[in-house]
Amino acid sequence: MRVANLPRIVVLRLGHRIVRDKRLTTHVGLAARAFGADGMVVSGEEDQGVLRSLSSISEKWGGQFSVGFEPDWRGVVSAWRNDGGCVVHLTMYGLPLPSLLERLREEHTRRDMLVLVGGAKVESSVYTMADYNVSVTNQPHSEVSALAVFLDRLLGTTEMERGMENAKLRIVPQQRGKKIVRSRHNT
Ligand SMILES: C[S@@+](CC[C@H](N)C(=O)[O-])C[C@H]1O[C@@H](n2cnc3c(N)ncnc32)[C@H](O)[C@@H]1O
Repeated sequence: MRVANLPRIVVLRLGHRIVRDKRLTTHVGLAARAFGADGMVVSGEEDQGVLRSLSSISEKWGGQFSVGFEPDWRGVVSAWRNDGGCVVHLTMYGLPLPSLLERLREEHTRRDMLVLVGGAKVESSVYTMADYNVSVTNQPHSEVSALAVFLDRLLGTTEMERGMENAKLRIVPQQRGKKIVRSRHNT
């Protein structure tokens, strides 16, 4: 589970399109959850299917990852800033992650962090609304890979080894084969 009392990290997925992005947005959520974020807000076209898929993963595999839809992404960013949180936008055009890492880690100890990832097209205002425009290499790849690397660098290896509270299913790592422990009673 996450280290208690650390500020929250929430991912804001911009520009979701139901038909084209269903799988990708679900994977953004899965990566966010697995690599230590506390929740995800989806913006763009409303898609309860994606939210249900992510909720059902948490139901089985534990943790307290929150998911929600918000049509007005600007409102989410403004409210976040008004509440004192910082806003990080992942983009290939931003400053290199290694050059900002120390500052971002410090931010994470002090205030909540909203991490924006784009889709096909990101509006130019996103770049000005963000406190930090961060690149994970200056090459184009994907929102899933950018987010996973970002969270891993920010939070470090402890996130990789953490367990999820109230998990119904838990994997016992094996050299070969699959071992899953099913818990009848949530702890
Ligand atoms: C299909 S890509 C679009 C690439 C876009 N031109 C950009 O600004 O990064 C969708 C999203 O993946 C993320 N992304 C892709 N490559 C990235 C990189 N090298 N560094 C950080 N984020 C990246 C960004 O959040 C981007 O909005």
